[in-house]
Amino acid sequence: MTILEAHHDPALHAAIRALAAERKAVILAHNYERPEVQDVADYVGDSLGLSREAAATDADVIVFCGVHFMAETAAILSPHKTVLLPDMAAGCSLAATIDADQLRAWKAEHPGAVVVSYVNTTAEVKAESDYCCTSGNAVDVINAIPVEQDILFLPDMFLGAHVRRITGRENIHVWMGECHVHAGIDPEHINRTRSQHPGAEFLIHPECGCATSVVEAVSAGAIAKEGAQILSTEGMIRRPAQSDSDTFIIATEIGILHRLRRENPTKHFIAANDRAQCAYMKVTTLPKVLGALQRMEHRITVPDDIAARARTAIERMVAIGGTPATSPFGPDDPGE
Ligand code: 13P
Ligand code: SF4
Repeated sequence: MTILEAHHDPALHAAIRALAAERKAVILAHNYERPEVQDVADYVGDSLGLSREAAATDADVIVFCGVHFMAETAAILSPHKTVLLPDMAAGCSLAATIDADQLRAWKAEHPGAVVVSYVNTTAEVKAESDYCCTSGNAVDVINAIPVEQDILFLPDMFLGAHVRRITGRENIHVWMGECHVHAGIDPEHINRTRSQHPGAEFLIHPECGCATSVVEAVSAGAIAKEGAQILSTEGMIRRPAQSDSDTFIIATEIGILHRLRRENPTKHFIAANDRAQCAYMKVTTLPKVLGALQRMEHRITVPDDIAARARTAIERMVAIGGTPATSPFGPDDPGE
């Protein structure tokens, strides 16, 4: 059995749902989580959609099946709720590329610049930022800032290159960080999958190392414009239903294939790089979700002064653009 196949355990699934109801807990899962973790969640989505769910929920407890910065963001948005991360090893290599001291030094080099931080950052970095954004609304956030204003965009260089290209702004300074999973999806993978599936549409996450080369190939006419879309994970989930294509090459973390296949059973999905796997997302398993609810751990809290400074930037992100998270159970099913 591979990591892409659901390790169904109906008894464990039922125990989690029963305890979640008892604790008045909502379970949120990112699109990269293991299939069986996605299937036990109340909502599955991208970072933006899950932040919105965390801000809006009336549950007492949020079990965050994602990575640490996502749970921290939920704790900042819902300071009176208990936010649990099932495994503290759920980090993020991209968030680790910049800390608050490095950002303060960068700001000192560009006095007066507006700081836009991708949500994949620590709470301390967000506290030094004016706006947060996700891949789902980065362009909308940049467009909300006056054109003459210098911007420091961090920490992902490929997403930074994407927003510079789309907005046409020269005054965006980009931090040279990258996600090891997405940087590993490079032009070589795209060229190989393209020759194997010539009619397929590309769905590409803007953190990918191949995003720039695919856009260049579109500009050069080597790939049809409608044959390549740069999208957040939730944007990728929505695209197949809107497209006439029946085959899609997916350039992002492979956990997303579970939802794509389940929600589009007549279409075909091929990983651009079938080794593009985020180990941080995969540390969360069903037994750990149950353990989190039983022991009410690991509680994610953010010091009040840092949370207060980070909240404005995060609230701006939540308010601007993007796509909502969806329930795997459908709108009327409470998920029991
Ligand atoms: P999304 O915001 O598109 O869900 O991406 C989150 C992430 O961690 C990408 O690696
Ligand atoms: Fe971080 Fe990359 Fe994993 Fe996303 S895929 S959580 S950016 S390490």
